[in-house]
Amino acid sequence: MDLTFRPRRLRRTATIRAMVRETSLSPQDLIYPLFVKEGKGVREPIASLTGQFRFSPDTVASEAKAAWALGVPSVILFGIPDKKDPVGSSSWTDDGVVQRAVKAIKEVVPEMVVITDVCLCEYTDHGHCGVIRDDQVDNDATLELLAKQALSHARAGTDMVAPSDMMDGRVGVIRKALDQEGFKDVAIFSYAVKYASAFYGPFREAAGSAPQFGDRSGYQMDPANSREALREVELDLEEGADLIMVKPAMAYLDIVSAVKRISAVPVAAYNVSGEYAMVKAADAKGWIDGQRVMMEVLTAIKRAGADLILTYFAKEAASLLRG
Ligand code: PBG
Repeated sequence: MDLTFRPRRLRRTATIRAMVRETSLSPQDLIYPLFVKEGKGVREPIASLTGQFRFSPDTVASEAKAAWALGVPSVILFGIPDKKDPVGSSSWTDDGVVQRAVKAIKEVVPEMVVITDVCLCEYTDHGHCGVIRDDQVDNDATLELLAKQALSHARAGTDMVAPSDMMDGRVGVIRKALDQEGFKDVAIFSYAVKYASAFYGPFREAAGSAPQFGDRSGYQMDPANSREALREVELDLEEGADLIMVKPAMAYLDIVSAVKRISAVPVAAYNVSGEYAMVKAADAKGWIDGQRVMMEVLTAIKRAGADLILTYFAKEAASLLRG
C-alpha cells in the first residue's frame, strides 16, 4: 500500500501520543461539590452518589483540605438546612450551615477558593428555586431573597457566589447588592445555562430538594434549545458575571463549545450528579471500567471548551492524575 498520509504514525508510541495530545486535564481544572448539613462529626454516605457524603461544617473542612492536598483548588458548597419554609429563610442567616462551612474551610485551608451555590430550592418546603405566587415561581420577588443569601455568604467569607436558580436578572441584582455592601471582590460564577434536566435526580435526593409539585421547566431551560443558551450568556455577561457555567455537561457538549466561542470570561461545565451516578452504577455492575470512563468524560468536557469542570470525581480524578 502506498499511502502518503498515515495518521497512525503519530499514534505509534505513548511518548508521541503525549507530544501531539491536544487536550490536557489537570487537578487545577476541577471544582469539588460538597453537601453540608447541621451537626458535628457528620460523614453520611449519599446512597445515590457512591463515594460522596453529607458533611457537617467541621468535617467538610477536612474534606476540603484533603481535596486541596490533591491539587484541587476549589470547592462549591450546597446547604441542607434542618428547617425549611416557604421563602427559604434559613439560607440567609449568618449562622447557617453554608456560612459556617465557609468559615471552617477558610480557617483550615485559607488559600482554597470557596464557591457557594445561591438558590432557594434546598431551603424551601415546596422545593422550588424561588417564592411561589399563584402556583408559579415569582421571578422578581425571588431576586431580593437571592441577594440576601449572596450577601450572607459574602459576610462569611466566600470567594464566589454561584446563583443556580435561573431567575431573570439575578446576576445584576446580586452584583449591585454585593457592591453596595463593599464586597466588590466577591465574584459571580453564574449558572448561565442551566437546563431542566433529569440528570439532577441524585443531587435532589442528596439535598432533599425535589420540587413538591410540578417541575422546574418554568425557569430552567428546555433541553431542546441551543440558541437560547447564547442569549442567556449574553445577558449574564452584561449583568456582570465573572465566570459562567453550562449544566449538565455530557449531553450538552455542543452547548459548551458554542458558549466558549462567544464568552470572554472563563467557561465551566457541571458534570452533574446523574452523570456521576451512571458511571458509578455501571462500574459497580462490571459493565464499564469506571476509572477510564471518568477520565474520558472529563477530557471530553475540556476538549469541548470548558476551562473548569465541577465534578464529584474531583478527588478521584486528581489522585489518578498525580499518579
Ligand atoms: C440547585 C442546584 C441543583 C444542582 C445544582 N444546584 C439542583 C436542581 O436544580 O434541581 C444540581 C447538581 C447536580 O445534579 O449535581 N438549584
